[in-house]
Amino acid sequence: MIVSDSVAVSPEVVLRAVEIAGTPCYLYDEGEIARKCDRMLSLPRAFGLGVRYAMKANPSMAILQLLTDRGLDLDVSSLNEARRARLAGVSYDRMMLTSQEVPYGSDRNDLEHMMLEGLKYNVCSLRQLRLVSPFCSRRKIPLSIRVHPGEGSGESSATDTGSDYSSFGVHMTDLDIALELALESDIALDTVHVHVGSGGDPEVWLGTLEKMLSLLEDSFPCAHTLNMGGGFPVARMPGESMVDMEELGSRTRDSLLDFHRRTGRRLRLEVEPGTFLVAGAGYLLTRVSDLKSTGPDGYRFVLVDGGMECNVRPQLYGSRHPFSIVSSQGRLVWNERGEGESHSRTVPQVVAGRCCETGDCHGLGRDGNLVPRVMPEPRVGDYLVVGGTGAYCSSMAPFNYNSFLQAPELLLRPDGAIVLVRKRQSLLQLVGNELPYRSGVPRQELNEAAAMCL
Ligand SMILES: Cc1ncc(COP(=O)(O)O)c(C=O)c1O
Repeated sequence: MIVSDSVAVSPEVVLRAVEIAGTPCYLYDEGEIARKCDRMLSLPRAFGLGVRYAMKANPSMAILQLLTDRGLDLDVSSLNEARRARLAGVSYDRMMLTSQEVPYGSDRNDLEHMMLEGLKYNVCSLRQLRLVSPFCSRRKIPLSIRVHPGEGSGESSATDTGSDYSSFGVHMTDLDIALELALESDIALDTVHVHVGSGGDPEVWLGTLEKMLSLLEDSFPCAHTLNMGGGFPVARMPGESMVDMEELGSRTRDSLLDFHRRTGRRLRLEVEPGTFLVAGAGYLLTRVSDLKSTGPDGYRFVLVDGGMECNVRPQLYGSRHPFSIVSSQGRLVWNERGEGESHSRTVPQVVAGRCCETGDCHGLGRDGNLVPRVMPEPRVGDYLVVGGTGAYCSSMAPFNYNSFLQAPELLLRPDGAIVLVRKRQSLLQLVGNELPYRSGVPRQELNEAAAMCL
């Protein structure tokens, strides 16, 4: 493990970004994403390396295009993610679908169409295998199988996808049935897949690698690819540790070389990072709207205009994200590294959002209790920047709670230009699919009324 080199966005960039899109908005640093991407692609390898970006981390069209243009393929987790990536210009033969869905009806037809165009299907349950077997057998389409390894590791129990607590994949104890089914249907299982969790311990990842290699040796003689998933931990807060990707890469290469010496087989490795590529490149820009306290024995609150509806990770996992305070004139007042011009006293404060939830705070413990941050008191109108928000923030947020509108997204280009890559949702889009309880109000009139509220 190495200590993070967490990057910080400059106050001048913050000011330009909010001038373009207002607050709250997300800002992504293209240069940082490109650097992470290049690091991934240049990892040590034994017999080939494929990197699939786990697009659930951040499926914005611009991000998908940026990563796939640099040579990454995709891990997609639903048919709609596959369709969305296709709309972004990515061909199906660059995607592997790993999903809890069991497609039927027209979805099933779409899946078959995608597979004919080269999408790799990763069966995640015996039922999925039974459903796709006749089609794949007829068309001689090989499959991947996601193995439930029985042990995993994650940032919290909710992101540990390898333990018996999680329902992902075909459990090791059911693999004999899967192998028999595949044999009966004459289906080649050419890829074995596993994902132990997100933000967990790299030693568990490496332990699972050995477990999977034994499995490949004993039970999957025809498999040519091992997909080890993603999950590499990053350090969002200064002082946190993150994975040493290069060390993990060379230990993985050594294991694959050992496997080759033992078996004569040259396994291709695939990995599926999401967080590692984009988390540290994202910022949520919010504006301080109010300051309150709950008395001398209570808490001091800094209210901002973007909370859990923009980043729900604190509520889901007790995650911590770094803050910076930028004055309304564009000066760095303070950041989590202790930089900035503020000489005022630092005091414990809770940064709260604007949703009607006591727990709508940017600092929550795993038990759901408030965790104040020691920092100078900002002024109303200052900007509070939440770092480490490039992954699972925009994509996972309950953005329409309290009828707030989904926040826009911006990209900071390597030449310093800032471009809008997703507009703010409109009120019209918020209510556009609703139908009135009372008859007689034509849709057109509703649309006009919504447009007038803007
Ligand atoms: C199957 C699979 N692969 C890859 C990932 C990416 O994980 P991370 O963003 O932690 O790298 C996930 C995350 O949930 C996943 O479910």
